[in-house]
Amino acid sequence: MKIVVVGGTGIIGKKVVERLSAHHEVIAVGRTNGQHNVDVTDPASIRSMFAKIGHFDALISTVGDVHFAPLSEMGDAEFRVGLNNKLMGQVNLVLIGREYIRDNGSFTLTSGMVSGEEPIRGGASIAMVHAALEGFVKAAALELPRGVRMNIVAMTIVEETMSKALKEFPALADAFSGYEPVLTSRVALAFQKSVEGIQNGRVYRVWGSN
Ligand SMILES: NC(=O)c1ccc[n+]([C@@H]2O[C@H](COP(=O)([O-])OP(=O)(O)OC[C@H]3O[C@@H](n4cnc5c(N)ncnc54)[C@H](OP(=O)(O)O)[C@@H]3O)[C@@H](O)[C@H]2O)c1
Repeated sequence: MKIVVVGGTGIIGKKVVERLSAHHEVIAVGRTNGQHNVDVTDPASIRSMFAKIGHFDALISTVGDVHFAPLSEMGDAEFRVGLNNKLMGQVNLVLIGREYIRDNGSFTLTSGMVSGEEPIRGGASIAMVHAALEGFVKAAALELPRGVRMNIVAMTIVEETMSKALKEFPALADAFSGYEPVLTSRVALAFQKSVEGIQNGRVYRVWGSN
């Protein structure tokens, strides 16, 4: 399969690229790194990326900035970061990518563990964006034509990010206090299952027992 991984140069995306490259032609796309570049907040940039890459069998998205901060420090601008980037960035990858995906292809997006059911301190915007993304995937998957499928992976914090947060971003590490970080290799398996399997409209939850 020809697989495009948008965000394929990031912590999670790199592991997904590594896992799938053994059996597929994988194209890693980043904002500034990677084989191709795109800014997912700009539909014209997404169009230009697909025009260069051409038709593909699977698109994986492991992108998405969301503002993480206490609610008392969040206003309209802070909430719009997640809406423009993680939410509409990924939705537009699907809307524009529809024109380039082959029959029986698949889209796999990224949300995360943080949600209304699993809130963390500073995570209001993150929970909002994840709920919207999962609603989109479950509903839109049923309307995709030509046998095209769509799923989404919701992971907790991965070990690399937790190690980095402990050194550079203690508020993030504190917000995940008591949660078991997962291996990035385990997260990559969920993306593989989505691409190589037959399921549609599913949310793959990758986190520990707590
Ligand atoms: N890491 C975690 O523990 C964790 C946990 C739960 C959910 N998630 C979610 O998983 C996703 C990936 O996280 P990560 O930790 O792997 O992130 P990361 O290491 O920061 O990587 C981000 C990736 O996205 C690309 N990117 C950033 N902004 C972009 C833009 N505007 N347009 C196109 N590409 C852009 C980067 O490209 P460049 O390399 O060129 O900058 C890079 O490939 C995010 O949605 C995040 O919320 C992560």
